[in-house]
Amino acid sequence: MNGILDGRAALVTGASRGIGRAIAVAMAAAGADLALAGRDEAALGETAAMVRAAGRTASLHAFDVRDAAACEAAVADAASAHGRLDILVSNAGAQHRAPLAEFAVEDFRRMLDVHLTAAFVLGRAAGLRMREAGSGRLVFIGSMMGAALGRATIPAYAAAKAGVVGLVRSLAVELGPSGVTANAIAPGYVRTEMNAPLIADAAFDAKVRARTALGRWAEPEEVAAVALFLASPAASYVTGQTIFVDGGLTVTY
Ligand code: GCO
Repeated sequence: MNGILDGRAALVTGASRGIGRAIAVAMAAAGADLALAGRDEAALGETAAMVRAAGRTASLHAFDVRDAAACEAAVADAASAHGRLDILVSNAGAQHRAPLAEFAVEDFRRMLDVHLTAAFVLGRAAGLRMREAGSGRLVFIGSMMGAALGRATIPAYAAAKAGVVGLVRSLAVELGPSGVTANAIAPGYVRTEMNAPLIADAAFDAKVRARTALGRWAEPEEVAAVALFLASPAASYVTGQTIFVDGGLTVTY
């Protein structure tokens, strides 16, 4: 327990697995209480057990981030459950990979709703509440895809994650005077369920390892460590930024 988040309450979306679960567990270990959001209530319960094992409280908020009203209700419920809301981590995501000729508009719209519209709705609801309180931390999970690189078959994901970069800058400017920061994390290739098909593809796995200075995939906990920093008092003068946590992939030729 390093206590850098002592007394704080955080809402983390996509907290049932992967990066979201790692962030929730890391923030609990740092002293925060957690509002855990996701669609899979059973999996959220597993994350809640990990938070409680760290001696912190956990509340569960099961909803689909594509439902704007549910997002706004979850922010209010999280603040009510824990008596305050200091940190938002908008992490919930999905992936849809298909050749351009087969990529349906409906899938494009769905991906933007999950990754970008939800981030806006959650960021607005939490940010306005934090503005009233005079402080707060908004952390959004972006991607190197959309922040620096492009890859075939993922136009919706890349476009949505590029939008997160712009969203963060606008929120930072509008909320900055009230002491609320807004930042994005751009992970490289992380060992998550979403990426399981890529990890299982020997050629893709070899390409990632060759293109990454550190020669390996990231663990979710390595992304969580940077989310912890951005959510903490140590990042009080960091806002509007996109922080790459990519093992050096975006600087490797
Ligand atoms: C893909 C992956 C990537 C990574 C990550 C990179 O299909 O290329 O899903 O998008 O998961 O988002 O930052």
